[in-house]
This record gives sequence, C-alpha cells and structure tokens, in this order.
Amino acid sequence: MFQNNSNLAESLHTASGETPVIPAPRSSPLPPLQDTFGRTFDYVRIAVTDRCNLRCTYCMPEEGVEFRHRDEMLTAEETLRIISVLAKVGVKKVRFTGGEPTIRKDIVNLVAGAAATPGIKGVHLTTNGLLLHRYAKDLLDAGLTGINVSLDSMDTDRFMRITRRPGVDTVLNNIKLALDTGFQRVKVNAVFMQGFNEDELERFTEYTKDHAVTVRFIEFMPFDAEQIWSTGDHFTSAETIVARIKARYPDIGPAPGTRTEHHTFKVPGYAGKIAVIPAFTRSLCGNCSRIRVTADGSIRNCLYSDDEYNLRQVMRQGGSDDDMIALFRKAFADKAIDGYEAKKRSDAKVDITQLHRGSMTQIGG
Ligand code: GTP
Ligand code: 5AD
Ligand code: SF4
Repeated sequence: MFQNNSNLAESLHTASGETPVIPAPRSSPLPPLQDTFGRTFDYVRIAVTDRCNLRCTYCMPEEGVEFRHRDEMLTAEETLRIISVLAKVGVKKVRFTGGEPTIRKDIVNLVAGAAATPGIKGVHLTTNGLLLHRYAKDLLDAGLTGINVSLDSMDTDRFMRITRRPGVDTVLNNIKLALDTGFQRVKVNAVFMQGFNEDELERFTEYTKDHAVTVRFIEFMPFDAEQIWSTGDHFTSAETIVARIKARYPDIGPAPGTRTEHHTFKVPGYAGKIAVIPAFTRSLCGNCSRIRVTADGSIRNCLYSDDEYNLRQVMRQGGSDDDMIALFRKAFADKAIDGYEAKKRSDAKVDITQLHRGSMTQIGG
C-alpha cells in the first residue's frame, strides 16, 4: 500500500517526538525515448562545432566551406541543458563530435558538465587527434570515458593527400598518449577507401598487436561535399572487408563490440581488436540507439535523414524541458525503420543538389 506524505510523516514520528526529515516524494521516471519499431534511444551524439583543422578530401572542400554563424551555434549551457533533459528520458551515453570538437576551447568543461549530469554513464569524444596532447589529462580528469581517433592512413604522404594537412606523427603520438594517460577505451577510425588505403588493412591490424586499441574499418559513405563518392569506385562493403581480414588472418576470433561495431575480431595474442562498421550497407539499423544533435541545435533522427527538428529555437523561445522532450519524442516517432527508408523519404522531399548539409562535419558523423 502507498501512503500519502502526511501519513508517512506520522508513521515516522520518533519516540523522542522529533519529526525526522521526510524523503521528498520521488517523481516517477519519464518513459524512455522510443520509436514506433520498439527501439530505445539512449546514446546522443552532439556536434559541438562544424569547423575542423583538417580538410579531408572525402569530407570537406579545401576552400569555400560555409560555416554556421556563431549566434547559430549552441552555447555550452544549451548543450549541457540538452544532455540533462535527455538524461531524464534515459539517455546514458554522450559523444561529442564535430567538425573537430577539440577546437572548442571549452571542450574540457563540456565533458566535465556532461560527466557530472545525473544518469549519464559514459562521455566519449570522436576527434582527429591533432590537438589531443593539449587536453588528454584534463579530459580524463573531467570524466571522459573514451576517445575515438580518426586516422585513415599511417603513411605520411598519404595522410597529407587525404587530409590536405600534415600531422600523421602527431596523431600517432597522441593515440599513444591517450593510452599512456590512462584512457581504457581508445579506438582508431579508418574510413576504408579503395584506391586510397585498402592496402593498409594489414598495417592497421598489426598496430593492434602492441596497442590496446580497437581499429575500426568504416564503410565509406556518400557524405562528401567533394563528391569523391560519385567520381570513383572507392567503396568496399563491410562483407568484403571482413572477408579480406579473414583471408589474411584465418585464426582470427570474434570479440565483443559496441552497436556500431557490427563485426569485431581479435587476432589471438594481440593487445587490441579490429572491427568493421557497415555505415553504408546499414546492417546496424535494427540495433540503432542513436540520437543526433547538430552543432546549430537541430535534432536528427537518423544519419541518412535530412529531416531536422529545431531544438535551438524551442530553447531560445523560452521552451521548458518538457517542450524539449516533446520535440525529441516527435522526432523519434517519425523515425524510419532503417537508413535506406530514411534516405528514400528525404530524397523524395528535397532537391538533392540543394541539401544544406553536404558533409559529415555539419551532421556530426
Ligand atoms: P562507439 O560508441 O565507440 O561504437 O562509437 P561510434 O561508432 O558510435 O562513433 P564514431 O563517432 O566513432 O563513429 C564511427 C563511424 O560510425 C562514423 O563513420 C560514423 O559516421 C558511423 N556511425 C556512427 N553512428 C552511426 C549510425 O547511427 N549509423 C550509421 N550508418 N553510421 C554510424
Ligand atoms: N564515410 C565514412 N565515414 C566518414 N567519416 C567522415 N566522413 C565519412 C564518410 N564520408 C568518419 C570520420 C570520423 C567519423 C565521425 O566519421 O572519419 O571517424
Ligand atoms: Fe540508425 Fe539511421 Fe544509422 Fe541506421 S542509418 S543505424 S537507422 S542512424
């Protein structure tokens, strides 16, 4: 039987006649964020900037990128408010992405704020690793749980060709630094591109021999402002990548991984793991748990959907936490069954040449 608070107060009267402190009535937790297919969304990816200190050919053009105006970007307070609101509906994992999140001078504060939010169990960062030496220790102290470093080639010239900037040694040193600093979850993201880096599969796998990282080979996706996707045959499917790994390492065994790491392996005796992410073939959609918030404060319910829900406007017009939750619920009630369906719907709605977010830096990966 439940008691109301006055009965509870009476029953808690002590022999000395003092009234003890009555626990505040606990409001029942809000229902989790779900879609019409029964999936639950407990992982938010928040892009904290659309700017980057590299110019990867598959992502951004060298010049002429239009960045959002400062006023259009979410402030740190707004970002942390979104996280605390999402925590109320069961979100447990936060990932800061970009653009390049470490070019935000307040990245350590953002991580600390997210990590201190009740209900948040893990705070992660996806970074190109170039500036990690500036922040690694402070990020760990602030409560960062894991770091994913994007690195598509370990070769100096090739790195330069792909990113249009020097820096492979800095990135490699910073991956080691992250491990030495004490991060338990360090990963390397390599977008697998035929004609660019397919011959480095073995080199990346051998890197896991002595480094306790997960190297993830990611299917190339057509989110490139430069349209490299459409100008060449650079795509290789996850299945083919897995087959190539198995051909080279026949005694490789399965290993546990995250939801995006659809195929995960460990070479016997090696310190780290390797994984393959079917980002384009989308066999991971049934397991989707991801919410995306763009750097200018729009909700996206799928990486392949162009539908946006303007959360920044709701906040700046004085919306309550409940108003924000209502917008998230609306966005996820609209979510398509998978990324193919999401893309089909978006293509039907908009003129593809007019898409205002052609590159990953604007979507947040
Ligand atoms: P973990 O939590 O460590 O598994 O990281 P993650 O894979 O969720 O995040 P990360 O930012 O490292 O992304 C790695 C690659 O997976 C990028 O190319 C992303 O674009 C891609 N990716 C992440 N989430 C999704 C998703 O929901 N759908 C698809 N298709 N690709 C995704
Ligand atoms: N295809 C696949 N992955 C991409 N990323 C950026 N652009 C693409 C693309 N077109 C990756 C980055 C980073 C992650 C957030 O997304 O390399 O690791
Ligand atoms: Fe989820 Fe869309 Fe990614 Fe599929 S493509 S996993 S539905 S975000």
